[in-house]
Amino acid sequence: MRATSVFSLLVATVGTHVSAQTSSTSSAAPSTTITPEGPVTGKLGNATVVSNNPAGVVYKAAFPEAPFFKAAYPDGGNLKGAVIATANPDGKGVLFKLKLSNLPKSGGPFIYHLHVNPVPENGNCTATLAHQDPFVRGEDPVCDKNLPETCQVGDLSGKYGAIPEGKDTFEANYLDLYASTHEGIGAFFGNRSIVFHYANKTRVSCANFELVADGGGVPLPSAETSVCSTSIHPHPTGANATRTTTTILSTGAVTSSTSAPTPPSASTVPIAAGTSVRVGGAGVIAFAAAIMFML
Ligand SMILES: *[C@@H]1O[C@H](CO)[C@@H](O)[C@H](O)[C@H]1NC(C)=O
Ligand SMILES: *[C@@H]1O[C@H](CO)[C@@H](O)[C@H](O)[C@H]1NC(C)=O
Ligand SMILES: *[C@@H]1O[C@H](CO)[C@@H](O)[C@H](O)[C@H]1NC(C)=O
Ligand SMILES: *[C@@H]1O[C@H](CO)[C@@H](O)[C@H](O)[C@H]1NC(C)=O
Ligand SMILES: *[C@@H]1O[C@H](CO)[C@@H](O)[C@H](O)[C@H]1NC(C)=O
Repeated sequence: MRATSVFSLLVATVGTHVSAQTSSTSSAAPSTTITPEGPVTGKLGNATVVSNNPAGVVYKAAFPEAPFFKAAYPDGGNLKGAVIATANPDGKGVLFKLKLSNLPKSGGPFIYHLHVNPVPENGNCTATLAHQDPFVRGEDPVCDKNLPETCQVGDLSGKYGAIPEGKDTFEANYLDLYASTHEGIGAFFGNRSIVFHYANKTRVSCANFELVADGGGVPLPSAETSVCSTSIHPHPTGANATRTTTTILSTGAVTSSTSAPTPPSASTVPIAAGTSVRVGGAGVIAFAAAIMFML
């Protein structure tokens, strides 16, 4: 196992170095989503398909009367409508239904995401912190919608498309395999919020999810809940203890920055492997040092 990861790091390091050289001579690629090491993905891997969503559970997030960003509606009012999220009847994924109207007249295409924290009573959308991102992918580069497992779990517009400007209404229905109505895992959004942004990321309005149907009292498996629910920070499925918690703590604190947090000491190696193209010469030397240390 260790030998394998050292090998893959060497490959990643060499690949990074090569790409750094070639990209300076070829025309700048607009997207860095696909790197020589593969697509950019979470530091804890790709999002996992959630297949044990309790049947019949429905959450709804309805936008409030007033916007957070008042200038969006100079004549009063707000974005209207709701996002309804229903556990897929077979337990695999969540069906999202958006029905919105009175969209802002400009500033699109609009983006929207599941955010880590709920909206406090004062309606402060900033307090929802960053996107729900249990696999620690980060926002940048924007994800490839053809590879939704590589996206942040909460990046719904990244995975299913932004909301165009110039129309009053927007509707969408889709199945997301990575979000969860199953309490106790990082992908659970029932205690979180949705935030509607301008294209420039300014937060226009936000709303909390509320349970509107509990699936007729289907009991939730409790094993994972007891492991994860002691922390107020999201956990990815199956990932454990301090490393995860530390990372997501930092993620939650960063609202729109490009850089991902660096966990302490030994876990710098997997992080570096994921940062791909942005690693420069110094990074290569650091890699080499880390690999020699491991050997
Ligand atoms: C993540 O998913 C992508 C696309 O399916 C795949 O190419 C890549 O190898 C996966 N990465 C990891 C770390 O599993
Ligand atoms: C974002 O766009 C909106 C609408 O165009 C504008 O009112 C707002 O000032 C912009 N925010 C920033 C930070 O540029
Ligand atoms: C809104 O939340 C942010 C982040 O928690 C905080 O910095 C800011 O002071 C809050 N603003 C208000 C008006 O509560
Ligand atoms: C939401 O629920 C998840 C899973 O149960 C938990 O890890 C997270 O800490 C909760 N978040 C908030 C803000 O309560
Ligand atoms: C996480 O911890 C649980 C309980 O201690 C254990 O059963 C599980 O195998 C661990 N998972 C990983 C990925 O280490």
